[in-house]
Amino acid sequence: MENLDWTSLGFNYMKTDFNVRYEFIDGKWSDMQITSDEYIKMHMSASCLHYGIELFEGLKAFRGVDGKVRLFRVEENAKRLRSSAERLCLPVPTIEMIVNACIEVVKRNERFIPPYGTGASLYLRPVMFGTTAGLGVKPAKDALLVVYCSPVGAYFKGGIKPMEVIIDREQDRAAPRGTGDVKVGGNYAASIMSGEKAHQMGYSSVMYLDAAEHKYIEECGACNFFGIKDGKYITPKSQSVLPSITNKSLRQLAKDMGLEVEERRIPVEELSTFEECGGCGTAAVISPIDKIYDVDTKETYTYGSEVGKVSLELYTRLQDIQYGRAEDTHNWCTIVM
Ligand SMILES: Cc1ncc(COP(=O)(O)O)c(C=O)c1O
Repeated sequence: MENLDWTSLGFNYMKTDFNVRYEFIDGKWSDMQITSDEYIKMHMSASCLHYGIELFEGLKAFRGVDGKVRLFRVEENAKRLRSSAERLCLPVPTIEMIVNACIEVVKRNERFIPPYGTGASLYLRPVMFGTTAGLGVKPAKDALLVVYCSPVGAYFKGGIKPMEVIIDREQDRAAPRGTGDVKVGGNYAASIMSGEKAHQMGYSSVMYLDAAEHKYIEECGACNFFGIKDGKYITPKSQSVLPSITNKSLRQLAKDMGLEVEERRIPVEELSTFEECGGCGTAAVISPIDKIYDVDTKETYTYGSEVGKVSLELYTRLQDIQYGRAEDTHNWCTIVM
């Protein structure tokens, strides 16, 4: 794309050339439809608008050092999309349908894939929702799955910068047997208000605790949480945490680096014992945390404004695979072209 300043891109929607769709009507999926229309015509009584029967995914394609374009762990996103669809009683697309749609979107929008070295990437957003018109609360019979993309900038411009977060018990993100472990819009709607409170207090995001007891760490904004101490990578185990694909990858890389990996409950007090901690997710890979402020107890946990050694190595190893600078020994990348 001429005239596009890749280095100044943020995380915003930008119109690209094509998006890809599948419709589920009369009990069956349509063939893949390719369109340049950004809009959807929908009945005002569609189930997604009233009862939140909606789910989405987020993944990235990277232009590598060798000029090739890699989609990172697209099958994992496809599996998670399927589990979200099952949870909402929506029709469940096949892995193949989802992966093919992602590949098609990348290929059709090649001119929007940021060049290597800019830190930017092509973000893919699969989104699916129930479209059946009605008034009663019941499963949607019809659905639409759209996969679109947008070029996004490097999360950290000018080096990784640690963030400051607050622990706030006023609102919960997800209940123990709710929908926290799937990627549905309702979880994000529930988090908007506490996120705004954090911003108004000058913090980047909220660290959510378990909704039953408010004793254990769950997630950090729209990121999973991890802590490092005594040669261990420790991350919360909970039925209301979204299974992050970045976290899954970091757990593997941590093992490759000789760290022990623990998935277990993490009580809030344990925060004082971590040498490093951070959030992880597709957007930033790792967002190190330098300060956590507990609004209720007034306790402050600090980790220093420098990125920790282990976090930096994990970050570098993952990005090296995404950009084709290191061998993809775990077979995480799909080379699209
Ligand atoms: C609530 C939440 N947790 C964790 C993550 C990180 O997941 P992933 O690594 O698959 O992007 C995300 C982003 O997708 C998220 O929205």
